[in-house]
Amino acid sequence: MKRIAVLTSGGDAPGMNAAIRAVVRGALYHKLEVYGIERGYEGLINGEIKELSVGSVSDILQRGGTWLKTARSKRFMTPEGFRRALDMLQNFEIEGVVVIGGDGSFRGGLELTKAGITVIGLPGTIDNDLAYTDFTIGFDTSVNTVLSALGNIRDTSSSHERSTVIEVMGRHCGDIALYAGLTGGAESILIPEEPVDMNKICRTLIQGKNRGKMHSIILRAEGVEMSTQELAKTIEERTGMETKVVVLGYIQRGGSPTARDRMLATRMGYKAVELLLEEGMTSKAVGVKGDEIIYYDLEEALNMKGCHDKSLMELAEIMSI
Ligand code: F6P
Repeated sequence: MKRIAVLTSGGDAPGMNAAIRAVVRGALYHKLEVYGIERGYEGLINGEIKELSVGSVSDILQRGGTWLKTARSKRFMTPEGFRRALDMLQNFEIEGVVVIGGDGSFRGGLELTKAGITVIGLPGTIDNDLAYTDFTIGFDTSVNTVLSALGNIRDTSSSHERSTVIEVMGRHCGDIALYAGLTGGAESILIPEEPVDMNKICRTLIQGKNRGKMHSIILRAEGVEMSTQELAKTIEERTGMETKVVVLGYIQRGGSPTARDRMLATRMGYKAVELLLEEGMTSKAVGVKGDEIIYYDLEEALNMKGCHDKSLMELAEIMSI
């Protein structure tokens, strides 16, 4: 393989820039030509492709977001758009593509694979919703951002003796809520993987109040069936405690990546290059298990199910008795 490309796709995540940098510098170290595709698959269709040098990726390691920009491309899913994307790869004689993104981005990569392109997927999403890997790039930063917000909200909730429902991201996977809730001492954590037990939530709050605790934090992942507003209203009605709502939104998706995310992104980015250099390599998804960088066949990785660690939820419940 002589020429590779890198793109970011879907929702941005802190650490994507560190991954781009690792791919570019790793490729140049191994004497590969490396191209950056802007705006994900949409940019590929539009031919937004430029050759990158060592200097192109200077000063991006510490930045949040993605320097290559990102998009959710509907055109890529049409036969015409997909054909054009393939033409562009052929025009630039690109044989391998590193796709940094989540589930949807990997599915796009799988389509390219079927058309003969070798794709290496790097898990870049704050949601941590890819079952084949313990952690995704951006998750740790996001959890730390939520944790810091939770601390601030606790100060004010405590001063006013209120309950606060904090809504965090996570449509199908509640890991942001679970990790931030467990490490931030939330009284209740609600995740899409588990049903809402309103009796238990109210009971925990009332028991806390009876012990002299006058404030509580309830962390709700956005994918939970009961809406944040409805949840707050129900808690207020059933406990008599004043209950506020805070929706963290994009605050938790931006920001400078933590050391952990930079390390993960750098190791995974370099691994992607190593895989592309292997003779006869087919498409893969790179991940981490324990402290080891691992990889699976791309399709196999996408078919894996279940990212929810039940034991952590049980631990959170024990901690919030
Ligand atoms: O990146 C994943 C995610 O943050 C989800 O948790 C969230 O629902 C979604 O992206 C929102 O992204 P956007 O507003 O860019 O469509």
